[in-house]
Amino acid sequence: METLKAISTRRSVRKFSDRQVESDKLHAILEAAMMAPSWANLQCVRFVVVKDPATKRRISELSYVDSFFAARGYKSNPSQVALAEAPLVIVACALPNQSGDIRGQQYYMTDVGLAAENLMLAAHDLGLGSVFVSIFEEKPLADLLGIPAYISVVGLFPLGYPQCEASCAPPRKPLEETVFYDRWPG
Ligand SMILES: Cc1cc2nc3c(=O)[nH]c(=O)nc-3n(C[C@H](O)[C@H](O)[C@H](O)COP(=O)(O)O)c2cc1C
Repeated sequence: METLKAISTRRSVRKFSDRQVESDKLHAILEAAMMAPSWANLQCVRFVVVKDPATKRRISELSYVDSFFAARGYKSNPSQVALAEAPLVIVACALPNQSGDIRGQQYYMTDVGLAAENLMLAAHDLGLGSVFVSIFEEKPLADLLGIPAYISVVGLFPLGYPQCEASCAPPRKPLEETVFYDRWPG
C-alpha cells in the first residue's frame, strides 16, 4: 500500500473477526515496529505478545476506567472488550533507563509512540487492524505478565482482522488551526 494512502485510511480497530493472525504477518508487524526511529538508536522498546485467552481476559479486566481516569472525564474504555476478543494483544513496553534523558526530558514515550504508529500502519497494510490502548492498571498488568518494575508498560495493542469495513476517520482539526509559519500567531 502506498504510504500516504495507508496513513489516511488507517483507523483504530476495536472489533475483530475470529480469523487468527498468521505468524509471518505478526513477525512483519513487529519488525516494522522495531524499524521506527529511536533516540540515538538505543531501541528501548520491548513487546510482549499475548495469545493465551485467559491472560487476554485478565488484561481486559485491568483496562477499565478507574477513579483516576473517571476524575479526568473518561466514562469507559471503548477498547476493553477488544482486548479480550482480539486473537492477540501486543503489550508495548520500554526501558526508561536505556533511553535518552536530556535536561529531564525522557524520550522513551516518544520511542514507543513512533514504534506504535509503525505497528498500526504495518497491520493496516497487511489487512489487519489495531488500536492504541492506554487505559490500564500498570502494576497488576506487569505482575500478570512477569514484567519487572524497571520496565514501563506504555500501551496495549489488540491485533486481528477487522470485523467490519473501516469507518470514516474521526474529524481532524484543519491545518489552519494546527500549523503556524515563522511565528506562533497572535
Ligand atoms: C496515546 C493514545 C492512547 C489511546 N488510548 C486509547 C484507549 O485507552 N482506548 C481506546 O479505545 N482508544 C485509545 N486511543 C485511540 C484514539 O481514541 C484514536 O486514535 C482516535 O480517536 C483517532 O481515531 P483513529 O485512530 O481511528 O484515527 C488512543 C490513542 C493514542 C494515540
